[in-house]
Amino acid sequence: MRRTVHAAATTFFFAAISVPVYAVTDGSGDPAPAKQDDGKWFDKDGNPTFKVDEDGTVDWYTYSGFIRYSSECLRCHGPDGMGSSYAPALRNSMKRLSYPEFYGIVAGGKKDVSSAQELVMPANGENKNVMCFIDDIYVYLRARADDAIPRGRPEKHAPKPDSFTKAEDACMG
Ligand code: HEC
Repeated sequence: MRRTVHAAATTFFFAAISVPVYAVTDGSGDPAPAKQDDGKWFDKDGNPTFKVDEDGTVDWYTYSGFIRYSSECLRCHGPDGMGSSYAPALRNSMKRLSYPEFYGIVAGGKKDVSSAQELVMPANGENKNVMCFIDDIYVYLRARADDAIPRGRPEKHAPKPDSFTKAEDACMG
């Protein structure tokens, strides 16, 4: 009798801890959303992350990231982070790059002088259309890298939080 109870308790324990953890890790570790600040999600290490509901509804920042990626990055990096003949597939890069590494490259740029074709990632540190939305772009690409969302515009998204509008107005000036 005691053994049965113990086995049942063990099963329950493993079931309980395995549910919220995604099967994947990326350059920033486990992307599972652990806490939020008015609709902006963070993983257990405090890195920005995405949240996708069972019906496919994405958080506002992931949706905003899709819009910003498409206007600022797509022309070189291809639609949906899939890459082009000129610039790498960020969908793959995010499996390796941490949040600070991503931030540093986007703000400061990157130049591959070793390749025959000179590849240049422009510095965006002064570009408000990128820097005011860098976390949005990050969580969108993180979701793409982790196969949490399909290609294309997310069909359903959470409403725009008031704090997003305030931060956008303050940052864009
Ligand atoms: C003018 C073209 C161009 C635009 C626009 C552009 N990139 Fe890039 N990006 C590149 C190239 C080329 C590279 C590869 C540079 C290298 O290999 O050193 C690159 C590299 C990167 C890397 C490093 C990838 C890796 O695998 O290490 C990141 C991250 C990145 N870009 C993010 C972005 C984001 C986010 C945007 C939009 C805000 C953006 N880029 C816009 C051309 C561009």
